[in-house]
Amino acid sequence: MKASGLGTACVALAASTLLATSAQAARADRSVFGTTPGGQSVESVTLTNAKGMTVRILAWGAVIQQLSVPDRHGHVDDVVLGFDTLAPYLGKEPYFGASIGRYANRIGAGKFTLDGKAYQLSINDGAQSLHGGTTGFDHKLWTIEKVTSGPEASVTLSYTSPDGEEGYPGTLTARATYRLNEKNELAIDYSATTDKPTIVNLTNHSYFNLSGALSGKSIMDQLLTIPASRYTPTDAGLIPTGEMRSVAGTAFDFRKPTRIGARVTDGHEEQLVLAHGYDHNWVLDRQGSGLSLGARVEDPATGRVLEVWSDQPGMQFYSGNFLDGTIVGKGSVIYRQGSAMALEPQRFPDTPNHPNFGSARLDPGQTYMHHMRYRFLTSAK
Ligand code: GLA
Repeated sequence: MKASGLGTACVALAASTLLATSAQAARADRSVFGTTPGGQSVESVTLTNAKGMTVRILAWGAVIQQLSVPDRHGHVDDVVLGFDTLAPYLGKEPYFGASIGRYANRIGAGKFTLDGKAYQLSINDGAQSLHGGTTGFDHKLWTIEKVTSGPEASVTLSYTSPDGEEGYPGTLTARATYRLNEKNELAIDYSATTDKPTIVNLTNHSYFNLSGALSGKSIMDQLLTIPASRYTPTDAGLIPTGEMRSVAGTAFDFRKPTRIGARVTDGHEEQLVLAHGYDHNWVLDRQGSGLSLGARVEDPATGRVLEVWSDQPGMQFYSGNFLDGTIVGKGSVIYRQGSAMALEPQRFPDTPNHPNFGSARLDPGQTYMHHMRYRFLTSAK
């Protein structure tokens, strides 16, 4: 898939009727999803195409609340975890579908230095700062800036984070644009600007189960591919040690389609023991700086396939290890270990503390961009 693929989404116009034309244009519908206890109205925008795909985005956390796609027989199911109503999104929940900022993933002890100055971020995960700190972008009310229908249906949301919020320097203005086309591709483009040097790493934290979020099935029989020859092992706090370790001959080798459950219980693998399963960053085998495939999941039973494309260097694969049966989600389904997986394209975790991981720095005058794509296909039986 080329970067321009979505921009030129072709609407195959059935020459004859006007009806066919409008049926094939993707649509965006805006409505109220709920109200906060403080009386703020939280809107949602639902993007729908003519191929049976529907995506609902909330102004709260720029969350993907629903993402429904056809299986190989055309049967449509919602494939992301989350809640039916607003209230549970406002409380403590594990980032279902959320836009993550200012820094996706962990920063060791919440500490980093920039231009010789030490910063302390808020600590919210053991001794670490995770996904932006105590109140990250996932728990902010974003502003809906623009909604469009047409060959692509889209919504653009923004959130401006004040200087010093959660310990991060600079006023950061973040934008998220979701675009759905007629090829069952959902593009997410994150951008950010700042008024002081800072760090940034934005991604989406959807939990996928291609069997259907209501199916009650585990993801363990689904086939995962991650085109990466190395990954970044962690310490017990899930902070990368700085090593980039070869996946060859280990449970981390997903270069060929592999059942997620095939090796997840291997207690000889210290890294799986530390994380209670997979919760690691893979170093993608990338070429160039454009979009490339970062992960592919296939559910052999339904034939649903998800490809995650991104222009970022890393892919966090999290096998839902902390889903422990305490959360009841959409359709009153209990979420347990393995109920879903997250695939989060991103900069490597804790990049600001590892010079060999590159840079997460953003300066005034620059624009941070992360282009990601969820591409849904079906496989033959
Ligand atoms: C990320 C982290 C996991 C976990 C989840 C949310 O994927 O890597 O360790 O914190 O978010 O529960």
